[in-house]
Amino acid sequence: MPPCHQNLPDQMANILKIFCVVLLLLTILASSQATELFYPGFKHVGSNLTLSGAAEIEKTGMLKLTNRTSRLMGHAFYTSPIQFKNLTNGKAFSFSTSFVFTIVPEYPKLGGHGMAFTIAPSKDLNSLPSQYLGLLNRTEIGNFSTHIFAVEFDTVQDFEFGDINDNHVGIDINSLNSNASAAAAYYKDSVSKQSLNLKSGKPIQAWIDYDSGRNLMNVTISPSSSKPKIPILSFHVDLSPILQEFMYVGFSASTGLLASSHYVSGWSFKIDGETRLLNLGSLPSLPKPKKNHTSLMIGVLVSTIALALSAISVSIYIFMKKLKNSDPVESWELELGPHRYSYQELKQATKGFRDKELLGQGGFGQVFKGTLPNTKTQVAVKRISNDSKQGLQEFVSEIASIGRLRHRNLVQLLGWCRRRGDLLLVYDFMENGSLDNALFDQPKTVLSWEQRFKIIKGVASALDYLHEGYEQVVIHRDVKASNVLLDNELNGRLGDFGLARLHEHGSVSSTTTRVVGTLGYLAPEMPRTGKASTGSDVYAFGALLLEVACGRRPIEPKAAAEELVLVDWVWEMYEEGKLLEVVDERLHGEFCEEEVVMVLKLGLMCSNHGPSDRPNMRMVVRYLDGEVEIPKDLRAPRRRNGGDHDHEAAFGDILKSFASSSSSDKMSLCSNRDMDASFTSIYTSPLCLQQGETR
Ligand SMILES: *[C@@H]1O[C@H](CO)[C@@H](O)[C@H](O)[C@H]1NC(C)=O
Ligand SMILES: *[C@@H]1O[C@H](CO)[C@@H](O)[C@H](O)[C@H]1NC(C)=O
Ligand SMILES: *[C@@H]1O[C@H](CO)[C@@H](O)[C@H](O)[C@H]1NC(C)=O
Ligand SMILES: *[C@@H]1O[C@H](CO)[C@@H](O)[C@H](O)[C@H]1NC(C)=O
Ligand SMILES: *[C@@H]1O[C@H](CO)[C@@H](O)[C@H](O)[C@H]1NC(C)=O
Ligand SMILES: *[C@@H]1O[C@H](CO)[C@@H](O)[C@H](O)[C@H]1NC(C)=O
Ligand SMILES: *[C@@H]1O[C@H](CO)[C@@H](O)[C@H](O)[C@H]1NC(C)=O
Repeated sequence: MPPCHQNLPDQMANILKIFCVVLLLLTILASSQATELFYPGFKHVGSNLTLSGAAEIEKTGMLKLTNRTSRLMGHAFYTSPIQFKNLTNGKAFSFSTSFVFTIVPEYPKLGGHGMAFTIAPSKDLNSLPSQYLGLLNRTEIGNFSTHIFAVEFDTVQDFEFGDINDNHVGIDINSLNSNASAAAAYYKDSVSKQSLNLKSGKPIQAWIDYDSGRNLMNVTISPSSSKPKIPILSFHVDLSPILQEFMYVGFSASTGLLASSHYVSGWSFKIDGETRLLNLGSLPSLPKPKKNHTSLMIGVLVSTIALALSAISVSIYIFMKKLKNSDPVESWELELGPHRYSYQELKQATKGFRDKELLGQGGFGQVFKGTLPNTKTQVAVKRISNDSKQGLQEFVSEIASIGRLRHRNLVQLLGWCRRRGDLLLVYDFMENGSLDNALFDQPKTVLSWEQRFKIIKGVASALDYLHEGYEQVVIHRDVKASNVLLDNELNGRLGDFGLARLHEHGSVSSTTTRVVGTLGYLAPEMPRTGKASTGSDVYAFGALLLEVACGRRPIEPKAAAEELVLVDWVWEMYEEGKLLEVVDERLHGEFCEEEVVMVLKLGLMCSNHGPSDRPNMRMVVRYLDGEVEIPKDLRAPRRRNGGDHDHEAAFGDILKSFASSSSSDKMSLCSNRDMDASFTSIYTSPLCLQQGETR
């Protein structure tokens, strides 16, 4: 019996309507192809997988998304779209997928960049490599109309996207800022969690299960075929607004400055149900380095032929390269991070590191002027020699992240090149040299107060950015006038950030702490703690403030004894109420008194011997911008109390010995942690690494 009183023709019409809808749904369902995929290896996948970018299927049936070449992307999508909803506005279906992947990095510990299981509205992603994992481009990040869902297996820590470490799994929705992430690991049983190295070069199986009823997404990984009971990630999300009716499923991978080969050896996918099991043992595997006797013979034969062939091809390659210059650097590449230059290119740019191109000799090495052969851009090339292999390798990985720090008052790192023990860093060329030169070596063109004030503000905002603008605090460690460079508009730009780390990396295994810094800018707690902090950067910045306002170096060996240490002298004059007498005479009184007094007082505040009594850089910027008024009364920068006293005496001794030694303003200290505040040795050479090592 029909529940309501309708006449027969109406009922018929309703039944017909329902029938039509069902028919329509069936046709849609039929056109959506399979809702189950099962590929234990991709040997016979044929045209069912659409590959793009660097992706290819190897003879063994292994899907290779990228090789170990920088800045590649590789995509592999199931050719037909998969239906994820019954109606456009309906609820997304549950699905499960499992696959086995292997990541083989170029350098054992440094992956680049990662791969992702991807659900996308199109097979042609207009995306970027490196940290974008080939998923999105810059304009699409966070845009809801992108409709990208991905589970990333990321082997590089990107501060830009708030990555937790360089070995993590994350759930990404329309963005690379993961909505949920976890360090790569698996549960052996319900309690013991075992960490897992994604870039170990060994196969890892991953399971991604979405339960539409409970709006729950689980991600599980394991080094074996058996699925751990507890997922590593469990995230509550309704994918209905993200997934469209028809979507493409597959994989995306990318490499950056550092590169890995990303492989997928098997994949199974199912809508509304458990996936079929993949057996790790029966999947294609990477060639093992082990060889038996006959294959060794063949190997020798093959390699002899290969050697001959490669000798020929190398000569052809060199010939071709001479004909055709290597790829010019595109501007978008620069935006992605530092570029890896070839040694030849840099050698050509600097005319073979000719003495005539030498711009200066800094604490970390020589700096040459250069013109890149392809783009004709002027650059500064810094050559650093370092024996410490480990230090260098860690540093190279750091370049990848440091190079992405971007601020208009930082000297931009354009790229790098490594050759044996030499590290070459390529920077923007700064036309007006260093602040140190401008203040002291060019008596004819004296910087006006406005120019000086602008430079100071620029450096302060750069330092504030390093300290607080990023999720990770970056400590400069060597703020000083010779590290402040002036561009064509006389903006102050801070250079050499991060370089001091190179020295410290060298000290991992020894008990000796090397304090890197320049006397006069070196915070008094540094020799004792041996640890750089944002506070020690602020101290150095204070010294710089006084230096710029007074036109005098923080420590002036040639000055009278009571004027040796600039801070002390400025403080004395301040106490005597004669603060304006310390101002650089070369300004001939042409300056804004308010600003100068503020800068000098701020310099004294930053030079406080107690790290906690110094303002932080955010505060310094606010003082300089006039947002906050500087306190009327200042505390003496040197506190004469507590345990600081002994240490201060030691510090004073150094100053004295320094004054009586050379007049070089660049100097580093090596201190031995065991001997606390007493200094075992003072090297006048800025490179104390080797001396420290041999002790
Ligand atoms: C390719 O896809 C079609 C349609 O889903 C299916 O019938 C066929 O078996 C697939 N071929 C392989 C090799 O998986
Ligand atoms: C890596 O892949 C790229 C893009 O497919 C290709 O141009 C390059 O030759 C490959 N390099 C190696 C070493 O296989
Ligand atoms: C789609 O809808 C039809 C009818 O409502 C239903 O029978 C079918 O199970 C649905 N498909 C999925 C995958 O949920
Ligand atoms: C980013 O991708 C979108 C769509 O895929 C495209 O319209 C846009 O032009 C791309 N932007 C850039 C900068 O490539
Ligand atoms: C998001 O992308 C769409 C289409 O690509 C574009 O029309 C829209 O302006 C974008 N929205 C934002 C906030 O960028
Ligand atoms: C995921 O993250 C993006 C950006 O980080 C955010 O816009 C979005 O609301 C998040 N989605 C969910 C379901 O948490
Ligand atoms: C996800 O994991 C939880 C345990 O954390 C489990 O209760 C749930 O059944 C899992 N769901 C799926 C779809 O695997």
